[in-house]
Amino acid sequence: MSVLIKGGRIITAADDYVADIYVEDESVTLIGESLDMSADKVIDASGRYVLPGLVDPHTHLDMPFGGTVTIDDVESGQTAAAFGGTTCHVDFIIQPQGSTFADAIAEWRAKANGKQVIDMGYHMAVTDLAEGGTLEELASLPDEGITSYKLFMAYKGALMVDDETLFRTMEVAAETGALVMVHAENGDVIDVLVRQALEAGNTEPLYHALTRPPEAEGEATNRAIQLAHLAGAPLYVVHVTCREAVEPIARAREAGWDVWGETCTQYFFNSLDDIAKPDFEGAKYVYSPPVRDKWNWDVLWNAVRSDALSAISTDHCAFLWDGQKTLGKDDFSKIPNGGPGLENRLHMIHEFGARTGRISLNRMVELLATNPAKLFGLYPRKGTVAVGSDADLVVFDPEKNLTITAANQHSKTDYNLYEGTEVTGSPEVVLLRGNVLVEGDELVASPGIGQYVARARFGQELRARSAVA
Ligand code: URP
Ligand code: ZN
Ligand code: ZN
Repeated sequence: MSVLIKGGRIITAADDYVADIYVEDESVTLIGESLDMSADKVIDASGRYVLPGLVDPHTHLDMPFGGTVTIDDVESGQTAAAFGGTTCHVDFIIQPQGSTFADAIAEWRAKANGKQVIDMGYHMAVTDLAEGGTLEELASLPDEGITSYKLFMAYKGALMVDDETLFRTMEVAAETGALVMVHAENGDVIDVLVRQALEAGNTEPLYHALTRPPEAEGEATNRAIQLAHLAGAPLYVVHVTCREAVEPIARAREAGWDVWGETCTQYFFNSLDDIAKPDFEGAKYVYSPPVRDKWNWDVLWNAVRSDALSAISTDHCAFLWDGQKTLGKDDFSKIPNGGPGLENRLHMIHEFGARTGRISLNRMVELLATNPAKLFGLYPRKGTVAVGSDADLVVFDPEKNLTITAANQHSKTDYNLYEGTEVTGSPEVVLLRGNVLVEGDELVASPGIGQYVARARFGQELRARSAVA
């Protein structure tokens, strides 16, 4: 299949120019002016941006969590992603306690089988090095293209690990060339605050935020940074929400340490005002770390502009409000933590980041595609528009008006964190390795087209096509 994309404004992390793109056998083979070649499909991209397919480094599809399972499986979650211009994501395998890593991988691969709409890789969330996986097995995961280890410093009694597990995993990562990721909140302190709130009769969703204060995020972020430095491992702090966490990351980066941070779309737009909404509406905004005071929005915009934070993910972890979030109707600590977001990351960051001038279009591409691809061993196959790269391309109409609403979304959840928000700019055609995935409102390709991507080790490039069906 060959595709010719004519006259689009190609925007990468570094460049912004008008040219034609020729695609053959799943890759970009030529970029130039007025290309005169025949193709199976010709797309007129005049007046449009052509962006690299976006890369989301942080999602949770078909994940058991909080006494239930996320409502989006691989097919619905990836369909939502495709409509939002995301063509590759890295999902979390969660090692069940007592289980080997091999069993966990087999379980997650089976869940994705035949359902994949976009390309995907996996991180390994380490929960147990005592009875389940061993350090030796952990060290072997990069050979399978799982080149990042995630540790939860919160969710006591469920996913949380102690500092010994954290540090030992960091030592393995330093040896194997994996990137360590942390959910940085002090789970012990949060556990005390949650019990105190419930004992005082405070059961509403707002107390989810009030029992997970910014100090708990700042402390854990700083602890992870210091321990990773001691172990000699590179560190990536996920879903950073506040000044208390941005500051230690910025300090470490200024000192030249191998530390990176991401934030997520929702932390620029949701706040304590949302989680305080009456009639259990606030439960829609229960995710961790929690929403913060609004003044943190500017802290985060400054951080992504200055590269204190280097990526914006979604942390898509969708539950129904009616039927799943309601598990915590009488006790905020039983509300499953997580929110949807895969479909609207580009809409929201383009509208309120690029169109307002908070960040440039190049920086937007860098935060949503190029940096995630580089940090997670997908670049330059993913994350840019270049000869030799996968033809994962988004033809984006910068003039299209859209009102974001749950009624039109592709996630199976029953609400949207940005309900009613009006944006200008939306993907029009989305290609995955040269195959048309989305055209207008239609999902053109069928599930099964997406592939597993074995990722390169931290700091290495993914050049040769190494996908395994
Ligand atoms: O509330 C959240 N973020 N749920 C997903 C799991 C995690 O902590 O990333
Ligand atoms: Zn987390
Ligand atoms: Zn997450």
